[in-house]
Amino acid sequence: MNMVDVILKKKAGGALSPEEIRAFARGAADGSIPDYQLAALLMAICFQGMNAQETACLTMEMMRSGGVVDLSEIDGVCVDKHSTGGVGDTTTLVLVPLAAACGAKVAKISGRGLGHTGGTLDKLESIPGCSVEKTQEQFVRQVQQIGCAVIGQTGDLCPADKALYALRDVTGTVGCVPLIASSIVSKKLASGAGAIVLDVKTGSGALMQTLEESIALARAMVDIGSQAGKPILALVTGMDQPLGTHVGNALEVKEAIDILAGRAGGDLLAVSLELGGRMLVAAGIARDVEDGKARMRGALESGAGLQKLGEMIAAQGGDARVCEDVALLPRAEHCIPVPAPRAGYVARMDTTAIGYCAQDLGAGRKTKTDAIDPAVGLVMDVRLGDYVEEGQPLATLHVNKPELAAGAVASMQAAIHIEEERPALPPLVYAAVSPTETIRY
Ligand code: URA
Ligand code: CA
Repeated sequence: MNMVDVILKKKAGGALSPEEIRAFARGAADGSIPDYQLAALLMAICFQGMNAQETACLTMEMMRSGGVVDLSEIDGVCVDKHSTGGVGDTTTLVLVPLAAACGAKVAKISGRGLGHTGGTLDKLESIPGCSVEKTQEQFVRQVQQIGCAVIGQTGDLCPADKALYALRDVTGTVGCVPLIASSIVSKKLASGAGAIVLDVKTGSGALMQTLEESIALARAMVDIGSQAGKPILALVTGMDQPLGTHVGNALEVKEAIDILAGRAGGDLLAVSLELGGRMLVAAGIARDVEDGKARMRGALESGAGLQKLGEMIAAQGGDARVCEDVALLPRAEHCIPVPAPRAGYVARMDTTAIGYCAQDLGAGRKTKTDAIDPAVGLVMDVRLGDYVEEGQPLATLHVNKPELAAGAVASMQAAIHIEEERPALPPLVYAAVSPTETIRY
């Protein structure tokens, strides 16, 4: 097949045939199509889009480009949850132990931080000793024994996505619904989940910043997953401000532990319960979402969720005493407040800029090989709608390199907009997308 013809066809707005899509995915996976042709086709897809058949076909071909995890030995339905990525988005560390404590089996393959967004693997690795590398046998055994495991990608899952994602990252072709949908769903299908709950973020810290694009992404992913025979649904949730108050790896682990210990709550807990309640429905444990949320709350109040997190940390080689004593987590040397430059209401946040600020302090990588500092990051002292006096702290930076603080203070002050008028507060859940309907809240 001549790739130039395929590129020209998409450039002119044509729909690619299954054979053309298969050649594209295979050629990306085995390296036989040069990067410049892959990049040209990716850009043509960004401009011309893909119809539902093309997107589903690309997803299945990317899934088949490598191995598929076999979770059939695990009793019951394995449920998975996937977020499109956010800032202070620690739902996994809250809801996985709660759902497992309610009897769900959660076999989760997570990612690392990407751009301004954090990654669950980096957060888990901030716990002393905790490993996210397991063989498939160890992964299945851990889920069978304690009900949950959160690990990194094993072996050769979706090599086509690995190649295409790396290219998209450096060619301005990440933000495109069919490319994101096929990338995420191919990995979810390859990781063997029996049922999938998606958390599609929307707002200033999300990949898709407008509600319409976010709903379109949720719809595309739900349609592909359900065509592939998986029970799947998506919530579109707000990323107009960091979801939790803590941003940074050990800081986010601390917040998850504080929530599971009943010392904290807020939007991070609320979204975790919404997602987790739906995971329990998908697993056949809860009658409906309200029942699922009530069960999750029960596991929170009894302490069963915190105990389950400790079991998971221990099973992955980590020091589970962090669940009883968060002071055992790495801590930064300096805490530096970000003062409000004037009095008024916190009206808007550039959440992406806040994520980059944590990254600049060392919480994330700028290049693939950067080391991260597990201790650093920031804690938000305000939420949208709060009134602040001039000089009152908007956030507290946790830093190990004091020379970075002045720049970070200025970036945070620029990212948090203070206005005279009290703003309307954004909802936490904007929409729910199932195979049969889209409900807007
Ligand atoms: N996360 C993914 O795995 N793929 C994308 O394309 C975007 C976010
Ligand atoms: Ca099974």
